[in-house]
Amino acid sequence: MSRLIVVSNRTPGKGPAAGGLAVALRKTLSEREGFWFGWSGRLVEQPEREARFEDIDGLSVAQLDLTRDDHHDYYAGFSNSILWPSFHLRLDLATIEAHWYEGYRRVNVQFARALLPLLKPDDVIWVHDYHLIPLASELRNLGARNRIGFYLHIPFPTSDALYAIPHHNDLMRDLSRYDLVGMQARRDVAAFTEFADHQSPSSLSGNPLKTVDFSRTEVDSFPIGSDPHAFAKLSVSPAATKMVKRMERVLREQKLILGVDRLDYSKGLPQRVEAYEKLLANNARFRRHVHMLQVAPPSRDTIKEYQETSDALDAMCGRVMGRFAEPDWQPLTYVKRAYGQPSLAGLYRLAKVALVTPLRDGMNLVAHEYIGSQNPADPGVLVLSRFAGAAEIFDGAIEVNPFDTDETAEALRIALDMPLDERIARWTSLMAAAREHNVEAWAARFLDRLAPATTAGSGTR
Ligand code: G6P
Repeated sequence: MSRLIVVSNRTPGKGPAAGGLAVALRKTLSEREGFWFGWSGRLVEQPEREARFEDIDGLSVAQLDLTRDDHHDYYAGFSNSILWPSFHLRLDLATIEAHWYEGYRRVNVQFARALLPLLKPDDVIWVHDYHLIPLASELRNLGARNRIGFYLHIPFPTSDALYAIPHHNDLMRDLSRYDLVGMQARRDVAAFTEFADHQSPSSLSGNPLKTVDFSRTEVDSFPIGSDPHAFAKLSVSPAATKMVKRMERVLREQKLILGVDRLDYSKGLPQRVEAYEKLLANNARFRRHVHMLQVAPPSRDTIKEYQETSDALDAMCGRVMGRFAEPDWQPLTYVKRAYGQPSLAGLYRLAKVALVTPLRDGMNLVAHEYIGSQNPADPGVLVLSRFAGAAEIFDGAIEVNPFDTDETAEALRIALDMPLDERIARWTSLMAAAREHNVEAWAARFLDRLAPATTAGSGTR
């Protein structure tokens, strides 16, 4: 079987995103004698042109250093101040600086140049996420004829939002140089198809430069998942139990409502706290009997819009505290730091309700992890945004429009009052879906489609 090369901005051990992926792909990578390729996490004045190999927990990882300027323009600039807000339909939060695009392309060229000499002709390459859309183009420009797949972990934008991105046509042409493009949800494939259809030559008043030919690129949805069995085990591990005990001492009889999200404007955190405020305002009986914990590790905090989100959340939490706290009761706790998976698994198991209410999200793995961590005999309830990719697979959740804080407040009330038999019925359906969409099955499905064992490495381009 041909080797597998995985490429992403962050490599395993270098940030939150690679965590779940690394676990899922570790086995496949070692069976297929492949390696992971990405940014080293280091910013240096004069980076080497070649990647350096390192063994990270038995995984072979090739890493490239970047200059501070290149990294800024590529990561904080084009990727996270233009692509991220636009793909999440937050054009109001996008900042456009023309030169960032050059940095974005420059880094993709550096990745391609460093990766190419490491490739064998029949290697299968799997590129991850919006930082690296141009990578296949750059590799093919250098002569690579390998099978190359791309997976977008975030939502695909509507055509209007896409048109607002500088050089969007180039980016779409870059996508057309992959053999397979995977998206999280059917809604993303529909948005992509709408764009691709508008690009048909007949609709473009004969301007061939604008036409993107997708005839050799397959596009489909491959909803990602977690490892629900691993979370089931983790949630009763000694480390998780320690966290549960700590929390139980503070909570006493109060029911825990939990949110866990990177501190990102796409997660709808101020709206979530407002919904909680409405729950307390409309239902005095819950005061002193519930407690909300929001875990929100800071993210991309050099970017102004992220700092403003953090400030907005501070203000909102302060408002709820001032309005409802009493000397011996606090309605909420808000922690701006990251916790390890065992502690989170403990918190998930303890929480009677998980509030997963992003304004827009590719999938949302917190939903999967929460489901995996429940006690089957006394499971909690998932309140889930209809704008998370997860809503397409989790029928057992209470689905909400996160922009409508009255609706979310009411969903919270229903969740807190839900009888045990209904909680069990809903969780059973949720767990079945989480199992079906586990991360190993996801990777296998994508890779089977990208390069079925019989045709792997046939070098089509
Ligand atoms: C999302 C993206 C990932 C990214 C992660 C963390 O999940 O899809 O590509 O790695 O956020 O963000 P960061 O900017 O810290 O890598």
